[in-house]
Amino acid sequence: MIDLNKHFQPKNLSDKIALLFTKFLRLLADTFFKKRYGHRAVVLETVAAVPGMVAGMLIHLKSLRKIEDDKGWIKTLLEEAENERMHLMTFVHIAKPTAIERFIIMMAQFIFIFTYGIIYLISQRTAHRIVGYFEEEAVISYTEYLNELEAGTIEDQPAPELAINYWNLPLHSTLKDVVRVIRDDEAGHRDVNHAFADIINLKKTKKTLDTINKSNKEKKENIEKILN
Ligand SMILES: [Fe+2]
Ligand SMILES: [Fe+2]
Repeated sequence: MIDLNKHFQPKNLSDKIALLFTKFLRLLADTFFKKRYGHRAVVLETVAAVPGMVAGMLIHLKSLRKIEDDKGWIKTLLEEAENERMHLMTFVHIAKPTAIERFIIMMAQFIFIFTYGIIYLISQRTAHRIVGYFEEEAVISYTEYLNELEAGTIEDQPAPELAINYWNLPLHSTLKDVVRVIRDDEAGHRDVNHAFADIINLKKTKKTLDTINKSNKEKKENIEKILN
């Protein structure tokens, strides 16, 4: 059973920057979309499908350069990008983007590919933590969407055929069922990206400890030399 309320408490500066960046973008999205959940999903899923592809490509290139194994990260990230694209293909049946939204999609893609790519090159750990936090917000937004559907403030409708086929849903499924499975996907991406950030963090901590141990050893040897 997926924990929908999970939140990763920031532990270091990298985590805090990631959370701040996410909260800033959340504020922008909330201000622009308010309760237009269908439109919000269409526009934000076009952005959500970017990080997996960018990160996958950068790890792919690094794996080629360094001639080292990727430990399955590339496949996981590319699958995430594909899954997010399917969210988009689903929601476009629910809400058609307006002209201004199409313009925002184009601008956002242009800006986000470069921003995320640069963040990834500077700090892979922060980049995965950002996606972890993005996905926490996605889970919250889809829960709000689901609440509105359940309360009847947003009218439920039959699930698009594409969604029924992709998630193997029963034929009589509705938008509510689709939002539920998409929310589970987002929670899955959340856990994967937080786990990736944790792995990188652990490697960094180990590297720092090794450096400290090495310098302590050298200092000890120098003192012994002086004493002898
Ligand atoms: Fe998504
Ligand atoms: Fe996602």
